[in-house]
Amino acid sequence: MAGVGLSWPSKLTRRPHHFVAIAIFFWFRCAVKMTVTVDEKKTTFTLKKSEEAFNAAKELMPGGVNSPVRAFKSVGGQPILIDSVKGSHMWDIDGNEYIDYVGSWGQQLLVLAPLAETMKKGTSFGAPCLLENVMAEMIISAVPSIEMVRFVNSGTEACRGVLRLAPAFTGREKIIKFEGCYHGHADPYLVKAGSGVATLGLPDSPGVPKAATAPTLSSPYNNIADVELLFETNKGEIAARNSGFITPKPDFLNALCRITKENGALIFDEVMTGFRLSCGGAQEYFGINLDLTTLGKIIGGGLPVGAYGGRREIMVMLAPAGPMYQAGTLSGNPLAMTAGIHTLKRLKEPSQYDYK
Ligand SMILES: Cc1ncc(COP(=O)(O)O)c(C=O)c1O
Repeated sequence: MAGVGLSWPSKLTRRPHHFVAIAIFFWFRCAVKMTVTVDEKKTTFTLKKSEEAFNAAKELMPGGVNSPVRAFKSVGGQPILIDSVKGSHMWDIDGNEYIDYVGSWGQQLLVLAPLAETMKKGTSFGAPCLLENVMAEMIISAVPSIEMVRFVNSGTEACRGVLRLAPAFTGREKIIKFEGCYHGHADPYLVKAGSGVATLGLPDSPGVPKAATAPTLSSPYNNIADVELLFETNKGEIAARNSGFITPKPDFLNALCRITKENGALIFDEVMTGFRLSCGGAQEYFGINLDLTTLGKIIGGGLPVGAYGGRREIMVMLAPAGPMYQAGTLSGNPLAMTAGIHTLKRLKEPSQYDYK
């Protein structure tokens, strides 16, 4: 669970009875729900500039936003446009100050000073840089299953990458995705996961060709019997299974590990859990041996970074080491790597995961 609470800009702190607004974000099964409650008595609080800017944005960008959850649709109200953030506080364009419990979904910027230094040298080289080695070493040393890593620009790209890599390695085309889990917006993941269509790949969004989701099988999370049935009825065809962030029943993950050892590959989507549940992610926390991992969000420290990695023998399938093509103009760019490196350094400091 994460949330945003409103505190007062200095000009309002002398009016303790004025308007209070609290926005609470709930993360539940990789979905966001937000509620906003407003105390009508506090009339000096205004979101006028946010409202005007959002109305203008709606004419310029579909829905006024560049990522759907930011539109507040499932919770009502309208988006607050943020002007700046510092530590645990953020300010909107009307000058209201908030306590930031969201932290940009786990990737709040911790690293302004090193970024400024890197920026002096350039923001993108279109060529390799040493920072990529540093960041790769940090990820490989932290995440148990990763022996080699490929950097991309988002969690979606990372999840898209393993979707091609696992079939490329195993020679099998089908994947199992767990119901209700979000793995970015690549076509094969946009599958309606209702129980009635548990084994049919039906697209969730218009524009996704049926053929793109045909290889996607879906299964309820934590139901190993269903998984076994899918493997039985699709013998030799399933390349991968993909796990989201729902607390696994005891032994569910171990059973997945056992089944996929002989039949395909086990993938953990750790875009949410990587470097958060523990430094080595959910796989370290639960002690699971798997084949491929996707990362995003926090590893970019506020800049657009995603990564996927796994066993060396799988990763060398990737071009230019191997035949599986995937590329990116800004992948591994110096700014993103700097933000990532300094964020991961902070996460390595003692006491970061004391709740374990
Ligand atoms: C588990 C998981 N995988 C993948 C993604 C996609 O990441 P991105 O939004 O960086 O493309 C998300 C985004 O919320 C996610 O929660």
